[in-house]
Amino acid sequence: MNRELPLVDTFGRVHDNLRISVTDRCNIRCFYCMPAENVTFLPKPQLLTFEEITRFVRMTIPLGVRKIRLTGGEPLVRQNLEVLVQQLRDVEGIEDIGLTTNGILLADQAERLYRAGLRRLNVSLDALDPVKFKQITRREGFEKVIEGLTTAREVGFEKIKINAVSMRGITESEIIPFGRLARETGMEIRFIEFMPLDAERAWERDKVLFASEIIDELAREFGPLLPVGEYDAHAPASEYQFADGVGRIGFIASVSQPFCGSCNRFRLTADGKIRNCLFSLEETDIKSLLRGNASDDEIRLAIRQSIWDKKEGHEINAAKFIRPDRPMHSIGG
Ligand code: GTP
Ligand code: 5AD
Ligand code: SF4
Repeated sequence: MNRELPLVDTFGRVHDNLRISVTDRCNIRCFYCMPAENVTFLPKPQLLTFEEITRFVRMTIPLGVRKIRLTGGEPLVRQNLEVLVQQLRDVEGIEDIGLTTNGILLADQAERLYRAGLRRLNVSLDALDPVKFKQITRREGFEKVIEGLTTAREVGFEKIKINAVSMRGITESEIIPFGRLARETGMEIRFIEFMPLDAERAWERDKVLFASEIIDELAREFGPLLPVGEYDAHAPASEYQFADGVGRIGFIASVSQPFCGSCNRFRLTADGKIRNCLFSLEETDIKSLLRGNASDDEIRLAIRQSIWDKKEGHEINAAKFIRPDRPMHSIGG
């Protein structure tokens, strides 16, 4: 395998973790992500093909990329996703492939995905109360997600993580039920602070339910939460365990405790743009290069330049913060 210098930015952060969005479409309409109606989706020819995505991934191996996560929109609405999983598994150098899904189509696809070699699964589920689920997602589907989780466990997925966006006025009543679920099933529940990436631009700091508040609430019910010792320093989630050793809870506290200093991630959007940060205001167009006969070296140079241009971090907490134009469903999370 050819090796080059790692993908570093001007702050010395090494980027070995690539998140790939395979579609901007979704089968639900969570208000923290998508508009309620009239969404314009990318026309199909603008989506990178599986072959283009795989070529891109292969090119990043000499740059040190080792970890991949497939995202959406909702990745399972992209036809035959297991074919892409298989193609990426076959790329020499890739050590880890994950998928983040809303779980609605999981019961149908879990087995195929597992057989294709997928092992790491994160499922978005913001409420265990079906009424609240519908209020957030503006669609039916709660039972489907639960069925999806059950099937995924049955076909062999272990260590499934549940992502719950934490929103003031909404998530409070879900904290204890999620705590119970973590303790009863061994699935890690991760609370993600609501970030200003909703299509409707309704985010305000007051609408974020902070990690520290959830920790206090869980501790009141189940006893103290203790930080888990051996976790990945680059992972966005801080992980905790209940004092009796039963159950794990994670917190992705992007707003109250930004973790940009240890960021190792960059993103490829479904329409082939590199985003060096969730909140970046500039993108690098890779699709034109892929479709315009650019050489691997030329494309690698463009990737390198994009990472080199990465800013120190998001500025959600600063007055000068500017929201990116892309809402979360077309970035991928
Ligand atoms: P693991 O490899 O299992 O740790 O996955 P992950 O936590 O990186 O992936 P997942 O897609 O489950 O991430 C959960 C959520 O965390 C995303 O949907 C985002 O909301 C948030 N998140 C992930 N990466 C970043 C990041 O780089 N910056 C910020 N601010 N938030 C992120
Ligand atoms: N803030 C925080 N997390 C978000 N997600 C989507 N939109 C937001 C937002 N505005 C997360 C959801 C889902 C993942 C795909 O992205 O948890 O798990
Ligand atoms: Fe990395 Fe940007 Fe997320 Fe900060 S906000 S952790 S720099 S992707």
